[in-house]
Amino acid sequence: MTGVTIIGTGRYAPGKPVTNDDLARVMDTSDAWIHPRTGIRQRHYAAEGETASDLGAKAAERAIEAAGIDRAEIDAIVCATMTADYKFPGSGGLVGAKLGIQGVPAFDLSAQCASIPFCLQMANGLIATGAARTILLVAADAHAGFMPWTDWDVVYGERDDVVSEEARAQATRHRGLAVIFGDGAGAMILRRAEVEGHGFLGAQLHTDGDFAEDIALLGGGFRSRPFLTHEMIDQELYVPRMAGRSLFKHAVTKLPRVVRELCARHECAVEDVDWMLAHQANDRINNAVREALKLPPEKVPSNIARYGNTSSATIAILLDELIRDGSIQRGQLLCLFALGAGLHWGAALLRY
Ligand code: UT7
Repeated sequence: MTGVTIIGTGRYAPGKPVTNDDLARVMDTSDAWIHPRTGIRQRHYAAEGETASDLGAKAAERAIEAAGIDRAEIDAIVCATMTADYKFPGSGGLVGAKLGIQGVPAFDLSAQCASIPFCLQMANGLIATGAARTILLVAADAHAGFMPWTDWDVVYGERDDVVSEEARAQATRHRGLAVIFGDGAGAMILRRAEVEGHGFLGAQLHTDGDFAEDIALLGGGFRSRPFLTHEMIDQELYVPRMAGRSLFKHAVTKLPRVVRELCARHECAVEDVDWMLAHQANDRINNAVREALKLPPEKVPSNIARYGNTSSATIAILLDELIRDGSIQRGQLLCLFALGAGLHWGAALLRY
């Protein structure tokens, strides 16, 4: 029995790009700090009122068109986001409604930056058990709502004013986190592979809740009564807290290990993988993983310079770019791997 394969992809990034220099208008930062440490040059942000489900629906439209299917053929949605439109319900049903495919079951998955390998495992299970035939996998994140500034017109260069000292100090307090995230969405249409040996081969997935607070949104959670308080706003807990150095270490140790384990389980050498599609959190993380796995740079592509870290969407956006420009060819072996809040991490192997 074959696993799921990708029959169409799409991506969407909102608005005009915001450069590192643009961010330096509202906080103490610079391209000279951001680019060498992360690889990031620019990112996009959802507009006021534009949500993860809006971005996801746009990426999905493009994936449906690329797959050449009628959207009525989609019989399940697997949706990943950590910036859902509402605290509840999840955004998967909203994507379905925006596409006009109401009634289709939506599975909302919260594995943050590690979502793509988790979503592929879930989609494969749905198809293997006959619960679905054609799945829309949509991964979207709109982080603009947790950015630590309000002077968006200054960020976009629409107003020349210098922001208040207080506003600048507030944004600067969160600069390590704020500069790395950007908004965007990627989507895939999945069906059972027709060719033996093609499609999803397997995934190796891990979660360790001991590290949940390495990156977490501490405000607005049900540990508190009421779950949202004025104090949370005063303490700026609507901006996630991130232990950047700890995450960096988790990523550079756990990701090479999980890729090696997955390849060994499927009796393939790491160097037999044609494309290593890594979550785009930091170029330095991916370069360290690449060196640990002894792989040439061209096998581990990067687009973080243009998008920043779009959380759940990074791998889906990268995949769409490489499929559309003809780099990824049918029959090639792909390994998709990621680590993110949870802590979740994992890898998936797929013959495209
Ligand atoms: O995808 C979700 C999971 N997230 C990740 O995987 C993130 C992994 N971590 C990282 O990529 C890195 O830790 C960061 C890029 C986020 C931060 O780099 P770092 O080298 O770990 O910096 P740091 O937070 O330890 O800060 C070093 C210095 C500090 O100044 P002092 O205390 O040494 O004077 C920071 O205040 O750099 C300062 N700093 C900044 N300066 C200018 C932190 N952020 C900035 C900034 N601009 N944006």
